[in-house]
Amino acid sequence: AALPLPPAAADGPVVVAHRGASGHAPENTLAAVDAAAEQGVSWVEVDVQRTRDGELVLLHDTTLRRTTDVAERFPDRAPWQVGDMDLAEVRQLDAGSWFSPEFAEERVPTLRELLRRLDRHGQRLLLEIKAPARYPGIEREILRELAREGWLGPLRLYDSLILQSFDEDSVRTVHRLAPQVKTGFLGSPDSDELADYAAFTHQINSRHTDLTAERVAAVRELRGPHGRRMEVFTWTVDDGPTAVRLAGMGVDGIITNRPGEIREALRGA
Ligand code: G3P
Ligand code: CA
Repeated sequence: AALPLPPAAADGPVVVAHRGASGHAPENTLAAVDAAAEQGVSWVEVDVQRTRDGELVLLHDTTLRRTTDVAERFPDRAPWQVGDMDLAEVRQLDAGSWFSPEFAEERVPTLRELLRRLDRHGQRLLLEIKAPARYPGIEREILRELAREGWLGPLRLYDSLILQSFDEDSVRTVHRLAPQVKTGFLGSPDSDELADYAAFTHQINSRHTDLTAERVAAVRELRGPHGRRMEVFTWTVDDGPTAVRLAGMGVDGIITNRPGEIREALRGA
């Protein structure tokens, strides 16, 4: 017989603004963080990478091509990898017009700017370490910046900050360097592998099409680091009925480009 499922998260899943509220403002910009705040959404997911001169900036793709005007401004720098450009160059770019002309002033933010903006709004951070194999040592640099900005103090930890990555080694590195920090692995490991993940990550964050109630339960029955129950966040869920179905499976978090609408769908369910 099927095992009883663990109870769903007490108040239902938390809603996380994916790349900020990226259905309403350009992804990975401060405008997208502000849009999430305006929608009353407290969790924000963004992606962090590193410039050639070692600055931590928010960007999803490993090149600046899709989300800035880099190709017009620096036509001889193809393929425009963020790791091949200095911060001063990146800061010249328009990171908003590709989305809508009203966002022409948006810049690629630094991690520090993000943390200060989240502080101002009282928001929480799900930070994805994107393509870390390209940026050796980035985990230590991210943790140093978080510490400098006051994000590793006891009041912040566990309920306000999660570091996640598709790169298992990167998640292990964060856990080794800062075992007090909550971590997430992006992927869908087989159930017989889950116990290994429980040694270094608090969350298994899966594409929603990979999930079943049994898979969600298999993660939530495990204890991760510090003996805390493991969690499942899922992405990217932009329609209400799918969000309601996933909430019924017991997921702990729903990552969405349209956080205000998804929150309303969950409230109405
Ligand atoms: O947070 C999960 C999600 O952001 C992972 O996919 O490609 O949007 O970074 P991606
Ligand atoms: Ca991401």
